[in-house]
Amino acid sequence: MSSEAPAVVVVGATGYVGSRLTRWFLDRGWAVLACGRDAAALARLEEAGAQVVDVRAFDDRSSGQPERAMRELTAQHTLHGVVASVGGWWIGDRLEDLSRDVWDGFLESHLTSHLTSVQHLVPHLPPGAGYVVLNGAASHVPMAGSGPVSVTGAALHMLVEVLRAESTGVRFREVVVERAIAGDDRNRDPEAEVALDAVAEAVRDALDDGPDVRRVDVG
Ligand SMILES: NC(=O)c1ccc[n+]([C@@H]2O[C@H](COP(=O)([O-])OP(=O)(O)OC[C@H]3O[C@@H](n4cnc5c(N)ncnc54)[C@H](OP(=O)(O)O)[C@@H]3O)[C@@H](O)[C@H]2O)c1
Repeated sequence: MSSEAPAVVVVGATGYVGSRLTRWFLDRGWAVLACGRDAAALARLEEAGAQVVDVRAFDDRSSGQPERAMRELTAQHTLHGVVASVGGWWIGDRLEDLSRDVWDGFLESHLTSHLTSVQHLVPHLPPGAGYVVLNGAASHVPMAGSGPVSVTGAALHMLVEVLRAESTGVRFREVVVERAIAGDDRNRDPEAEVALDAVAEAVRDALDDGPDVRRVDVG
């Protein structure tokens, strides 16, 4: 039987934003199923109180691991939904000079990984749950030198739109972070920053916002 304690699934929980979102929810009494690949980072999140699952198990349909973890979570908590914080920033070659390997890698990490997560997690969500996808300014501003991030970000936006159009219950929406997140030293000389707390609050609200919400901008 579900308790009143809220729960959320964080995909990309080992990344800069995902790990901080995981801890932000844990600090506020939420149960978190943290999904990622980095074993050491997953172990640290487990120590902090999260349940963890290696997302590579998503590719092995026979493992049943994500399904089991979702069942356990929903048996003990009220699951509000999923936050997908997958794919990060990159600066490199212009698109004209980009190698095929790098391009294919971006399609996998910034786009296909989202579809895989949706296909494995959504069937286990309760009716009306939220599915929040984090995206960045590059998804709607063409960023020279970060072409693969811009192109996959724009495609991710449409992925969420189509998922919403096809959805039979889950509320798909994007939280678009328009600025560098404060404290992320990988952003070189950001013009402006947004606090992680503001992003986390937007994500939490987006999990439960009504069906008309499609996109929330932060920063
Ligand atoms: N950081 C910022 O300042 C900032 C600003 C604006 C928007 N955002 C948005 O926040 C989101 C997350 O960004 P971030 O900065 O946290 O990026 P990040 O630190 O690079 O983390 C990316 C996450 O994606 C996972 N990932 C990458 N490829 C994957 C794949 N093929 N399959 C499964 N998981 C994969 C990584 O897993 P591993 O750890 O296993 O590699 C990691 O957990 C993005 O949507 C980004 O646009 C971030």
